[in-house]
Amino acid sequence: MPRRPLPDALVHRLGSAEKLDRPAEAVARRVRSSLGSGALKDLLSGTFQGHAVHPPLTDVVIGSWLSASALDLLGGSGSRRAAERLIGLGIVAAVPTAASGTSDWADSTVGDARVRRIGAVHAVANATALVVYTASLTARRRGRHGRGVRLGLLGMGLLTASGFLGGHLTLGRGIGVDQTAFDPQPEEWSDALAEGDLADGAPRTADVGGTTIMLVRAHGTVRALNDRCCHRGGPLHDGEISESTVTCPWHGSVFRLEDGSVERGPGTFPQPVYDTRVQDGRIQVRLRQPR
Ligand code: FES
Repeated sequence: MPRRPLPDALVHRLGSAEKLDRPAEAVARRVRSSLGSGALKDLLSGTFQGHAVHPPLTDVVIGSWLSASALDLLGGSGSRRAAERLIGLGIVAAVPTAASGTSDWADSTVGDARVRRIGAVHAVANATALVVYTASLTARRRGRHGRGVRLGLLGMGLLTASGFLGGHLTLGRGIGVDQTAFDPQPEEWSDALAEGDLADGAPRTADVGGTTIMLVRAHGTVRALNDRCCHRGGPLHDGEISESTVTCPWHGSVFRLEDGSVERGPGTFPQPVYDTRVQDGRIQVRLRQPR
């Protein structure tokens, strides 16, 4: 067993807590079936901006509540109204933040047990922080300022622990990260497949320098995309191919074959796309620049 710093060791233990699996997956399944795919799912995923929407929203919540606590501790009695407003802003921002985070988490629970468990605890801690901050605001409005400050500090402690878990989900488990970001890419023309092995409309895959590339012939033109879906790594060649798009079999993201752009989320990043040519009966591919 590798030696781990204490916070990481605690996260590791959480990620091994199998007891969380049943309730967490039941909730995740309900979230997935409620959201389905479409405009709301794309909005919560951040497809419209080409980047996950949850991380920047968390900045608003954490920033507001942290600033309120800083005013409580350093600002004196003249800053009480400002602290109340900041707590109110954080409460309002917490709603879309929780919705987007829950949507991201629910997409990732099936294939990654650690995400399922750690994400569930992250969500419960955030929900508890929201209740505590709401109680803090209520206490302040009723003139019980000292109680409101103490509750705010308690909420900040919860939020800090939960933020650590959220950071682990992104930085350690790759939620919201382009899954192809570290794939080696063929920047020079590279051999992929015999031309005769690619029938119209039937995708094939080829390992090109360690990256699996999906090739498909549509109306005589050979298209090539990275086979690993940017969202969570689903195998695109197992998805549905139409005249101009491929639909990921895992969560239904739709990418254009021509340029890899996202037509429908939850994917947010364009799929790496490759130029193709035929030389001596072999299909060659080269990363199309820029990404
Ligand atoms: S892996 Fe989620 S849409 Fe492809």
